[in-house]
Amino acid sequence: MKSILTEKLLSRKNFIQLALILVTSYLLRFWYQIIQDKKLVLQSLRQKLRIKIPTYPGISFHEAIIIHKQESRLTVMSSKCPHLGCQINKEENQELVCPCHGSRFSLDGELRKGPAQDNLARPTYRLDTKAGEIHVEI
Ligand code: FES
Repeated sequence: MKSILTEKLLSRKNFIQLALILVTSYLLRFWYQIIQDKKLVLQSLRQKLRIKIPTYPGISFHEAIIIHKQESRLTVMSSKCPHLGCQINKEENQELVCPCHGSRFSLDGELRKGPAQDNLARPTYRLDTKAGEIHVEI
């Protein structure tokens, strides 16, 4: 009698373990699918911009991108202020100025004055010299 009861308990215990494994694997698969879908959505939200390489030295504003061209050097920066995200679209006294709360950055995007706490972001870009374009992904 005892052995039958023990066998029943073991089989019930085994059944519960098996059920837990199945439920956990289903949930992990479901969770993995959600993460993959989020990655696809985030990738599709990334913008790819093509901007003509400026022919003149200095600062040029291109919506989400600011380009600082010097002799043979290009600095490509995000125009999104790292404070609260306003678009920087003004140069004043050799500094980039945020119109919202007055943060100031050097012409290469280094923070000079807050309230922002960080430099301007530097997106990755690729030069297409044949087309005379800068390809930026933001
Ligand atoms: S958003 Fe630029 S300083 Fe606040």
